[in-house]
Amino acid sequence: MAITIGLPAESKDRERRVALTPSAAHTAIERGHAVRVESGAGDGAGFSDADYKTAGADVLTDVAEVWGADLVVNVKEPQHSEFPYFRSDLTLFAYLHLAAEPELTAALLESGIRAYAFETLTDRHGLPLLAPMSEIAGRAAAIVGASSLSSANGGSGTLMGGAAGVPPAKVVVLGMGVAGRMAARGAKGLDAHVTGVDVDLQRLYEHHLAGTLDATQVSEPALVGEHVREADLVIGAALVPGARAPMVVSEEQVASMRPGSVVVDLAIDQGGCIATARPTSLSEPTYIEHGVLHYCVTNVPGQFPRTASKALSAAVTPKLLRLADDLVSGKAGTDDESPVLAGARNVDGGALVHPAVQAAFPEERHA
Ligand SMILES: NC(=O)c1ccc[n+]([C@@H]2O[C@H](COP(=O)([O-])OP(=O)(O)OC[C@H]3O[C@@H](n4cnc5c(N)ncnc54)[C@H](O)[C@@H]3O)[C@@H](O)[C@H]2O)c1
Repeated sequence: MAITIGLPAESKDRERRVALTPSAAHTAIERGHAVRVESGAGDGAGFSDADYKTAGADVLTDVAEVWGADLVVNVKEPQHSEFPYFRSDLTLFAYLHLAAEPELTAALLESGIRAYAFETLTDRHGLPLLAPMSEIAGRAAAIVGASSLSSANGGSGTLMGGAAGVPPAKVVVLGMGVAGRMAARGAKGLDAHVTGVDVDLQRLYEHHLAGTLDATQVSEPALVGEHVREADLVIGAALVPGARAPMVVSEEQVASMRPGSVVVDLAIDQGGCIATARPTSLSEPTYIEHGVLHYCVTNVPGQFPRTASKALSAAVTPKLLRLADDLVSGKAGTDDESPVLAGARNVDGGALVHPAVQAAFPEERHA
């Protein structure tokens, strides 16, 4: 027995990624499943309708037919226009970030849909479906932060590496996980002075020993505030999986920064770890508050769709196939569900399943 897998085009602002490449679609088709792709879904990442047809997929112009599949896989969380496609016999697999998305959470609960989130799926190494995009977002944060410091872009006119006789820019990275490590590495590559902040002392110890950072700082509010006040660029990447992002920097601390300094809060997809951060889009990525330039785009990797789609598809495909197997066997949503999907199920049959998402919405129904 097999199922139909739907791959709708992304509908978030300027989002050009696609969750499955044509070769990944082909792998699913070889396993006996049917794959429906919305026409144009891969265009932004350089994969044409013809590529998907060659892979054996059905390319459809009717988006409702694509959402009519048994299992829909997408990159970003569904947008308002897609809520009407939710139904109780549909399974969804995508980034959801529910702790920061109360309206989406309510719509998923109301529909009775079963929804699995990429970002909470856990294995012994961590968060395998978040990591590839965190890696890309971290690299991008260093690039975006450096260019935002240019006076042409509204920044203070500070060059990351400084110059002979002029000290380099000071960069503070909050959360030294996958995104934070890549951001710090990018900033170090530009010869900035980089301080890494985390609650995890073991993680800081490893950086300390390896000499990959100029300084490490345990995440204690007053001490972090001293670094933030002196910083030219603060990059937020702190995460407690599934939960609203921990608040690491207060509004007063942002207000203490020099005018033209820059904040890039990657953790904005989970609500933000810097008090003055609010979600922005790739169309309008920045705003100024307390004289500080803020870049808080919720889909940073969406601007590197070719690399990001290949990386995401490679990570997602094996899990998607296990989920498809579980749907065929009737194990999906039961205690016999594949361990490969551990931590991913967030919503099922009108109830919240993931403990951290439950904690974010104590008033909703919990499984
Ligand atoms: N905006 C975007 O486009 C985009 C893209 C990818 C990832 N992200 C987000 O970036 C964030 C980081 O993701 P990741 O994969 O690097 O996570 P991760 O789990 O690898 O790392 C998170 C780190 O934060 C640390 N942390 C937790 N609480 C902290 C606190 N109070 N102070 C300092 N550090 C703390 C953890 O110890 C861990 O080292 C997530 O919110 C993720 O969703 C955003």
